[in-house]
Amino acid sequence: MADFCSATVAGFYAAVDTVADWRTGIGELLSSVPETDLMAGVDFDGLASKIEFAELGVTTARVDFGFDETRTLNFLPKIFAVDTGRSIIPHGHANMVSAHLPLTGAFRLRQYDQVMRNARSLIIQPTADRLIGAGDLSSIGEDDDNVHWFIAEEPSYTFDVIVTGLDEESDHQFEIFNLDMEAAEPNGNGRLRVPTMSVSEALRKYG
Ligand SMILES: [Fe+2]
Repeated sequence: MADFCSATVAGFYAAVDTVADWRTGIGELLSSVPETDLMAGVDFDGLASKIEFAELGVTTARVDFGFDETRTLNFLPKIFAVDTGRSIIPHGHANMVSAHLPLTGAFRLRQYDQVMRNARSLIIQPTADRLIGAGDLSSIGEDDDNVHWFIAEEPSYTFDVIVTGLDEESDHQFEIFNLDMEAAEPNGNGRLRVPTMSVSEALRKYG
Protein backbone atom coordinates (compact mmCIF):
# COMPACT_ATOMS: atom_id res chain seq x y z
CA MET A 1 0.00 0.00 0.00
CA ALA A 2 2.83 2.42 0.77
CA ASP A 3 4.23 2.19 -2.77
CA PHE A 4 0.79 2.64 -4.25
CA CYS A 5 0.15 5.68 -2.08
CA SER A 6 3.55 7.22 -2.81
CA ALA A 7 3.08 6.87 -6.54
CA THR A 8 -0.49 8.05 -6.40
CA VAL A 9 0.18 11.11 -4.26
CA ALA A 10 3.21 12.03 -6.37
CA GLY A 11 0.97 11.74 -9.39
CA PHE A 12 -1.71 13.88 -7.82
CA TYR A 13 0.77 16.62 -7.03
CA ALA A 14 2.19 16.45 -10.53
CA ALA A 15 -1.36 16.78 -11.74
CA VAL A 16 -1.94 19.97 -9.78
CA ASP A 17 1.34 21.75 -10.46
CA THR A 18 -0.72 24.14 -12.52
CA VAL A 19 -4.45 24.54 -12.31
CA ALA A 20 -4.67 24.62 -16.09
CA ASP A 21 -3.20 21.11 -16.23
CA TRP A 22 -5.31 19.78 -13.39
CA ARG A 23 -8.06 18.09 -15.35
CA THR A 24 -5.74 16.56 -17.91
CA GLY A 25 -3.33 15.34 -15.26
CA ILE A 26 -5.91 13.86 -12.95
CA GLY A 27 -7.64 12.20 -15.89
CA GLU A 28 -4.44 10.60 -17.15
CA LEU A 29 -3.47 9.48 -13.67
CA LEU A 30 -6.75 7.90 -12.68
CA SER A 31 -7.28 6.27 -16.07
CA SER A 32 -3.99 4.44 -15.50
CA VAL A 33 -5.16 2.85 -12.23
CA PRO A 34 -7.83 0.09 -12.30
CA GLU A 35 -10.66 0.75 -9.80
CA THR A 36 -9.87 -2.51 -8.01
CA ASP A 37 -6.25 -1.39 -7.43
CA LEU A 38 -7.40 2.03 -6.29
CA MET A 39 -9.92 0.49 -3.89
CA ALA A 40 -7.26 -1.80 -2.43
CA GLY A 41 -4.78 1.08 -2.19
CA VAL A 42 -7.08 3.41 -0.25
CA ASP A 43 -8.48 0.63 2.01
CA PHE A 44 -11.92 1.06 0.49
CA ASP A 45 -13.42 -1.93 2.33
CA GLY A 46 -12.23 -0.59 5.69
CA LEU A 47 -13.49 2.94 5.03
CA ALA A 48 -16.80 1.88 3.51
CA SER A 49 -17.51 -0.37 6.50
CA LYS A 50 -17.21 2.66 8.81
CA ILE A 51 -19.72 4.89 7.06
CA GLU A 52 -23.41 4.35 6.42
CA PHE A 53 -25.48 5.89 3.65
CA ALA A 54 -27.09 9.17 4.72
CA GLU A 55 -30.84 9.78 4.80
CA LEU A 56 -30.15 12.98 2.86
CA GLY A 57 -27.08 13.80 0.83
CA VAL A 58 -23.88 11.87 1.35
CA THR A 59 -21.48 10.56 3.95
CA THR A 60 -17.72 10.71 3.48
CA ALA A 61 -14.59 9.13 4.92
CA ARG A 62 -11.16 10.75 4.78
CA VAL A 63 -8.54 8.69 2.97
CA ASP A 64 -5.23 8.68 4.84
CA PHE A 65 -2.15 8.41 2.66
CA GLY A 66 0.06 8.79 5.74
CA PHE A 67 2.08 11.72 4.42
CA ASP A 68 3.21 14.87 6.14
CA GLU A 69 2.64 17.63 3.66
CA THR A 70 3.90 21.18 3.89
CA ARG A 71 2.47 22.56 0.67
CA THR A 72 -0.13 25.28 0.99
CA LEU A 73 -2.47 23.40 -1.29
CA ASN A 74 -4.83 21.32 0.78
CA PHE A 75 -5.22 17.94 -0.77
CA LEU A 76 -8.25 16.00 0.49
CA PRO A 77 -8.83 12.46 -0.79
CA LYS A 78 -12.20 11.08 0.34
CA ILE A 79 -14.61 8.22 -0.21
CA PHE A 80 -18.23 9.39 -0.71
CA ALA A 81 -21.17 7.08 0.02
CA VAL A 82 -24.40 8.01 -1.77
CA ASP A 83 -27.56 5.91 -1.49
CA THR A 84 -30.15 5.42 -4.23
CA GLY A 85 -31.94 8.68 -4.99
CA ARG A 86 -29.64 10.70 -2.74
CA SER A 87 -27.35 13.30 -4.24
CA ILE A 88 -24.24 15.34 -4.08
CA ILE A 89 -26.36 18.48 -4.13
CA PRO A 90 -26.00 20.94 -7.02
CA HIS A 91 -23.21 23.41 -6.25
CA GLY A 92 -20.43 25.54 -7.65
CA HIS A 93 -17.06 26.44 -6.18
CA ALA A 94 -14.42 29.11 -5.75
CA ASN A 95 -10.74 28.62 -4.97
CA MET A 96 -10.92 24.85 -5.35
CA VAL A 97 -11.00 22.08 -7.92
CA SER A 98 -11.96 18.44 -7.56
CA ALA A 99 -12.22 15.11 -9.34
CA HIS A 100 -14.70 12.31 -8.73
CA LEU A 101 -14.30 8.68 -9.71
CA PRO A 102 -17.24 6.31 -9.15
CA LEU A 103 -15.88 3.07 -7.70
CA THR A 104 -19.20 1.24 -7.62
CA GLY A 105 -22.78 2.13 -8.57
CA ALA A 106 -24.14 4.69 -11.02
CA PHE A 107 -25.10 8.35 -11.10
CA ARG A 108 -26.89 10.90 -13.22
CA LEU A 109 -24.26 13.61 -13.53
CA ARG A 110 -24.98 17.17 -14.59
CA GLN A 111 -22.24 19.79 -14.99
CA TYR A 112 -22.21 23.46 -15.89
CA ASP A 113 -19.61 26.12 -16.58
CA GLN A 114 -19.62 28.91 -13.99
CA VAL A 115 -19.97 32.06 -16.08
CA MET A 116 -20.60 34.75 -13.44
CA ARG A 117 -21.25 34.93 -9.74
CA ASN A 118 -22.68 37.49 -7.33
CA ALA A 119 -23.80 37.30 -3.71
CA ARG A 120 -27.18 35.78 -4.53
CA SER A 121 -26.87 33.79 -7.73
CA LEU A 122 -24.64 32.12 -10.29
CA ILE A 123 -24.98 32.28 -14.05
CA ILE A 124 -24.17 28.86 -15.42
CA GLN A 125 -23.99 27.16 -18.82
CA PRO A 126 -24.98 23.47 -19.10
CA THR A 127 -22.10 21.28 -20.32
CA ALA A 128 -23.02 17.68 -19.41
CA ASP A 129 -26.02 15.53 -18.51
CA ARG A 130 -25.10 11.85 -18.60
CA LEU A 131 -25.19 8.57 -16.75
CA ILE A 132 -21.86 7.51 -15.29
CA GLY A 133 -20.66 4.31 -13.68
CA ALA A 134 -17.52 2.82 -12.18
CA GLY A 135 -14.42 4.27 -13.80
CA ASP A 136 -16.13 7.31 -15.39
CA LEU A 137 -14.05 10.16 -14.02
CA SER A 138 -15.45 13.67 -13.85
CA SER A 139 -13.49 16.71 -12.79
CA ILE A 140 -14.02 20.44 -12.41
CA GLY A 141 -11.85 23.36 -13.45
CA GLU A 142 -11.70 26.82 -11.91
CA ASP A 143 -14.62 27.93 -14.12
CA ASP A 144 -15.16 25.20 -16.70
CA ASP A 145 -17.54 22.44 -15.58
CA ASN A 146 -17.22 24.08 -12.15
CA VAL A 147 -20.83 23.37 -11.12
CA HIS A 148 -21.83 19.76 -10.62
CA TRP A 149 -24.75 17.63 -9.39
CA PHE A 150 -24.70 13.87 -8.88
CA ILE A 151 -27.85 11.81 -8.21
CA ALA A 152 -27.22 8.16 -7.33
CA GLU A 153 -29.16 5.62 -9.40
CA GLU A 154 -28.19 2.86 -6.96
CA PRO A 155 -26.10 2.60 -3.77
CA SER A 156 -22.79 4.09 -4.91
CA TYR A 157 -19.33 5.02 -3.74
CA THR A 158 -16.91 7.51 -5.26
CA PHE A 159 -13.23 8.26 -4.73
CA ASP A 160 -12.89 12.04 -4.63
CA VAL A 161 -9.89 14.30 -4.70
CA ILE A 162 -10.52 17.84 -3.50
CA VAL A 163 -7.84 20.53 -3.79
CA THR A 164 -8.45 23.79 -1.94
CA GLY A 165 -6.47 26.98 -1.39
CA LEU A 166 -5.60 27.54 -5.06
CA ASP A 167 -5.32 31.29 -4.52
CA GLU A 168 -3.20 32.08 -1.49
CA GLU A 169 -4.33 35.73 -1.66
CA SER A 170 -7.97 34.77 -1.15
CA ASP A 171 -9.68 35.36 2.19
CA HIS A 172 -11.32 31.98 1.81
CA GLN A 173 -9.61 28.60 1.75
CA PHE A 174 -12.48 27.59 -0.53
CA GLU A 175 -16.13 28.48 -1.13
CA ILE A 176 -19.12 26.37 -2.10
CA PHE A 177 -22.34 27.82 -3.55
CA ASN A 178 -25.35 25.53 -3.23
CA LEU A 179 -27.83 26.12 -6.02
CA ASP A 180 -31.63 25.97 -6.19
CA MET A 181 -31.85 24.41 -9.65
CA GLU A 182 -35.66 24.29 -9.62
CA ALA A 183 -35.64 28.10 -9.38
CA ALA A 184 -33.28 28.51 -12.36
CA GLU A 185 -34.30 31.12 -14.93
CA PRO A 186 -33.15 31.41 -18.54
CA ASN A 187 -30.42 34.02 -18.98
CA GLY A 188 -29.91 33.90 -22.74
CA ASN A 189 -27.65 31.77 -24.93
CA GLY A 190 -28.72 28.64 -23.07
CA ARG A 191 -27.42 30.00 -19.80
CA LEU A 192 -29.27 29.88 -16.50
CA ARG A 193 -29.35 32.26 -13.56
CA VAL A 194 -29.66 30.13 -10.43
CA PRO A 195 -30.17 31.45 -6.88
CA THR A 196 -27.89 30.20 -4.13
CA MET A 197 -29.28 28.56 -1.00
CA SER A 198 -28.06 27.35 2.40
CA VAL A 199 -26.70 23.84 2.88
CA SER A 200 -29.67 22.86 5.08
CA GLU A 201 -32.21 24.12 2.53
CA ALA A 202 -30.32 22.44 -0.29
CA LEU A 203 -30.14 19.12 1.54
CA ARG A 204 -33.88 19.22 2.29
CA LYS A 205 -34.71 19.93 -1.33
CA TYR A 206 -32.04 18.05 -3.27
CA GLY A 207 -30.16 15.81 -0.82
FE1 LIG B 1 -18.12 20.01 -5.69
